[in-house]
Order: sequence, then structure tokens, then C-alpha cells
Amino acid sequence: MSTGFTRLRRLRTTPAMRRLVAETRLDPAQLVLPMFVADGIDAPREITSMPGVYQHTMESLRVAAAEAVTAGVGGLMLFGVPKEDDKDAVGSGADDPDGVLNRALRVLRDDLGDTTVLMADTCLDEFTDHGHCGVLDADGRVDNDATLPRYESMAVAQARAGAHVVAPSGMMDGQVAAIRSALDDAGFADVSILAYTAKYASAFYGPFREAVGSSLEGDRRTYQQDPANRLESQRELLADLDEGADMVMVKPAMSYLDILRDVADRSDAPVAAYQVSGEYAMIAAAGAQGWIDADAAFYESVLSIARAGASIILTYAAVDLARRL
Ligand code: PBG
Repeated sequence: MSTGFTRLRRLRTTPAMRRLVAETRLDPAQLVLPMFVADGIDAPREITSMPGVYQHTMESLRVAAAEAVTAGVGGLMLFGVPKEDDKDAVGSGADDPDGVLNRALRVLRDDLGDTTVLMADTCLDEFTDHGHCGVLDADGRVDNDATLPRYESMAVAQARAGAHVVAPSGMMDGQVAAIRSALDDAGFADVSILAYTAKYASAFYGPFREAVGSSLEGDRRTYQQDPANRLESQRELLADLDEGADMVMVKPAMSYLDILRDVADRSDAPVAAYQVSGEYAMIAAAGAQGWIDADAAFYESVLSIARAGASIILTYAAVDLARRL
């Protein structure tokens, strides 16, 4: 006897059936853990708004990185937190081989070799005293073309220190092409570029500013994208692919899943997404209150990011997730 309707619940009857028909699967190897290493501290400091995430010392970084690799995480994304005194207008610490980020890259590459993919944030904001991602012109505006040589020098220093991947996150036009040719000229043709392709000026970066002790006053709206815009990300994607990006990224993730789907549909390079500090903080805080199950929410949110088209996902929850998968 026909009921006149379709029984979609048949494929939801048991855990085994649901597992069999799942359209999206997560693998620890696709997760990347962002990590912070700070200069001049003698013990790791937990970031208040991001429980379980630390500003590491060089030693605690080595331990945490090894643990992440053992847990099966596919890559590490490193951010440096220099001493306040070491910041200046052009971000000199960024391309100084003895700058905190470059030292950490050297140590981790030495420890881990090619057992993981070591990525470096290629951006000046952690290293400038004004907190912007580029150098400023006489009127205090971020100067696109004057910033490019700084990124070139920073990327080469990171490659020299042992980064497998450099990740320009400053949203300067032409940054991918500039970095690609600088790397090639310096003999680093094998170092990849993970381009922050669609990066929006987002309130969800709030806790990151605490994590890196950012000095920023004002905002980044003249270089990061307006959250109102969708088509613009297509232009960013075409430009980055054309300039030689090996991988492209959308950031933040959860409020930008439509952008992620657009980019994934049109990119012939691997697509990453970054579940940013504010996304982590919201889930962790609600979990700590007992208002949501944080473990389940992290799993569901990262699964959704994969479903929307990311094959690589940066998340501060990477190690916990990898262990549970
Ligand atoms: C720039 C950079 C930022 C983040 C990653 N790279 C900060 C910003 O653009 O303001 C944010 C990451 C996060 O919020 O987790 N170096």
C-alpha cells in the first residue's frame, strides 16, 4: 500500500546506517591547529577569552606541537607575539631571523621535520607598534605597495626558518604574486602559499587581539572585506589563483559558509576555512556555562564547515577533535 510520501527516516534508523550514508566525514589530517608563541615569558599563559589556548614559551610550544602531531592533526599554523619593546612602525621583528616567530619555526622544523605541515602567518600586525597589517603612509593609511616588500622579506625569512607554507593574511592587493616571486628568487620554489583569499573585517577576531597582545586602535576596514559583500570574494579568489596561490582560505568560517561554498565551487586549488578566535570563544564560553555541549558543538560546527566545502579547517579545537574522531 502506498502512503503517498517518502520515508526519509529509513536512512536514520541506527548509528551504523547513519554512518554508512554520511555525506561528510572529518579526518584529523585535515585539521590545522593555530598556535601562539610569545617572547619574554617564562611560563605559558592561558588566553582568558580562549580557555585551553595558550601563549606558549618556546619550550611549551615544542611539547604542545608534538602532542598535536601525535593526535593526528594535519598541520600547525604559527603566530608570533613579540615583546612590546620590539615592535616598531615597519614590523622589523617579522623578518628578523631572531624574531620570535622565526625562532619558533626553526625549533619546530628541527623537532618535527616533515612529519607535519608547518605554516606561518605572514602578516605584520603582531610586529608593528600601530597594530596594522601593513606599513603606514604619511597620512596614517595602510600603504599597499610599500607593504609588499615587507611581506616578501617576511615570507623569505619564514621559508628560511623552516616553514613549509606561508600564509599571507594582510589582504594587501598583489601580496600573493609578490611573495611567490620573492620565494622563487630566494630558492624556495617548493614553499607553498596558503592565501587568505576571502578575509572579512570581522568582530569575531576579538579574542585573537588579546592572544597576540595587539596594539591596534581603529579597524581594518580599508583592507579586509566588508561583511556585506559576496561577489567580491569571487574576484579575490580569481586574483589569488592567478597570482599563484597553492591553497585558498575563507575567514571567518561559521558566519561565512555561503562564501565558503561559492569559493569551493569555483576553486581548483584546495580550500581552507578558519574557525576564528571569536567562534571558539563563543562555543567554549557557552559550554563552560553548561548552556551547550561544547564538544558536540565543536564537532558540528567543524563538520558544517567541511560540508560547506572546506577540505582544510583551521580550528583552536583541532587537538581535542582529532582525538575524538
Ligand atoms: C592577522 C590575523 C588575524 C587573525 C589571523 N591572522 C587578526 C586580524 O586580522 O585582525 C585572526 C585569527 C582569529 O581571530 O582567530 N595577522
